[in-house]
Parts: sequence; structure tokens; C-alpha cells
Amino acid sequence: MLILKSPAKINLFLKILGRRSDGYHEIASLFQTINLFDDLSFSLSDKDDFTSSDSSLPIDSSNLVMKALELFRRRTGLIHPVSIKLTKNIPVEAGLGGGSSNAATTLWALNQLFGMPFNDNQLKILGAEIGSDVSFFLSKGTAYCTGRGEVILELDALAKQDVYIVKPAYGLSTPMVYKNLKINELAIFDPQKLLESFYLKNPILHNDLETPAFFLKPELAALKQTLLQSFASVLMSGSGTCFFCLGQGTFQAENHTSYACSFINRDENNWYSK
Ligand code: C5P
Repeated sequence: MLILKSPAKINLFLKILGRRSDGYHEIASLFQTINLFDDLSFSLSDKDDFTSSDSSLPIDSSNLVMKALELFRRRTGLIHPVSIKLTKNIPVEAGLGGGSSNAATTLWALNQLFGMPFNDNQLKILGAEIGSDVSFFLSKGTAYCTGRGEVILELDALAKQDVYIVKPAYGLSTPMVYKNLKINELAIFDPQKLLESFYLKNPILHNDLETPAFFLKPELAALKQTLLQSFASVLMSGSGTCFFCLGQGTFQAENHTSYACSFINRDENNWYSK
């Protein structure tokens, strides 16, 4: 049996560069994994079996874990039954990439269980077929991601930092947030400058998806202002609805869940661990 941690991510910045003809958006974003984990266990079995601790999630072929399994089988022809158990801790519709992380973890696990038919780069290419954020989770945890998110430039790990995650009770669907983006009204920032700012230790936090998310859920704008009273820097992650907060501070409020986390990275040949 293989038991693996499936980490969440935050987007330290997220810049939208344009709308593409395939319906996606061209982005430039610094992605970072954090130590908020789902757990996944994999074992060879006598029949396929997939269970999830969160009964609100589908466990059919629409689940990204199942998509990863089906894709791996199609590409390798290896169809030995597997039993997969998912224990969910990463909130959904949160901008933390939980589903994409589960898919990446599944690809990594199957590759281990079935004698490593793919190298890391091939796994990232497979990941991109499942979703825009899946390839990132096959990196070592800090990457500059462009294209629709699947073009990965691995970067040196940033200084380890505490990060406080705040999740409101409500979520937002990623396609809905992108749909409400006003492409002609975006702030002008050079993504290279945003990237450099993190390595020059004077980070500029910016996420172009905050405006459409705040339009859909005006409560989010108010929550950000409240969080800024306690923390030095606050930014929504991905398409929301989570905020990540840098610096010392805490926040407790009814209907909100918070998680004290820190940045994590993995070594070349090992998967993420605590
Ligand atoms: O690739 P993924 O399935 O995660 O994307 C979900 C949805 O988010 C897409 O269908 C699209 O509406 C939106 N999206 C986008 N541009 C991106 C990534 C996602 O418009 N770069």
C-alpha cells in the first residue's frame, strides 16, 4: 500500500494576460505548495474501488482522481485493479487546488506502483490533460506557471514562511469567476517584476481574479479588509474563496475555517510529506 499526502497550493500572485480562443485565459502566476493536506492511499486489489471521506464529492469518472486513473491506464495499458481511498481536508471551491493536487498525487502513486513508466516531465504532460493546475503539483512546490497554468518553470524554494489560510463557508466555481473577468480593466503589472519581488524579499501580492470574485461575492471584499487589520499582507488564492495571510496574526469568525500553515517543497525523488 502507498499512503501519500496531497498538498494544497496558493498563488502568491496571479496575473491574467489575455483570453484565448480555446476559452481559457493566458496566465502568469507564482504557485507555492503549503502543508495543508488531503490523504490518499493506493493499493493493488482484486477489484477497482474508490472511496472519499467527503460524501458531497462525486466518486465517479468526474472526480479528478478517477480521471487520472483512466488517463494512466489509457497511456500505459496497465489495467490491474486498484483500491483508492481519499481523506479530504482541503476545502473545495477554495482556490487551493485540492482536486488538481489529488489528480497529481494519483499519477505519481500509479507511476510508483506500476514500475515507473513515466519520468517527471512526462507525468507533468499527462497532468495538463486533466486540468490546468495538475502539472504544477508534479513540480517540487515552487513554480512560475504560464500558458493556462500548465507551463511550469521550476524555481528555487522560497524562504520557508508561515501562511494563515481563511476559508469562508461559501465557495466560488472557477469557470464562473473567469466568466466575470473584465479583461480590459485589469491592472497593469509586469509579471516578471511580480516574480522578482518575491526573490528580492519585497513581495508584491496581486491577483486579477479578486475583482470578479468580489463582484460575485461582495462579502469577500469586506473579509479582506477585516483580515488586513490583523495581518501585514492578505491575498485571495486562485479563483477563491480562500485568502492567505502573511505575517503574524490570527482570525476567528463564525462560518469561517482557518488553517495555520507554512510553505513546503519536496525533494527530487520523494513525494510531499509533513
Ligand atoms: O483546467 P481546469 O479544468 O482546471 O479549468 C477549469 C475552468 O477554469 C476552465 O474551464 C475555464 O473556464 C477556467 N480557466 C480559464 N483559464 C485558465 C484556467 C482555467 O479560463 N488558465
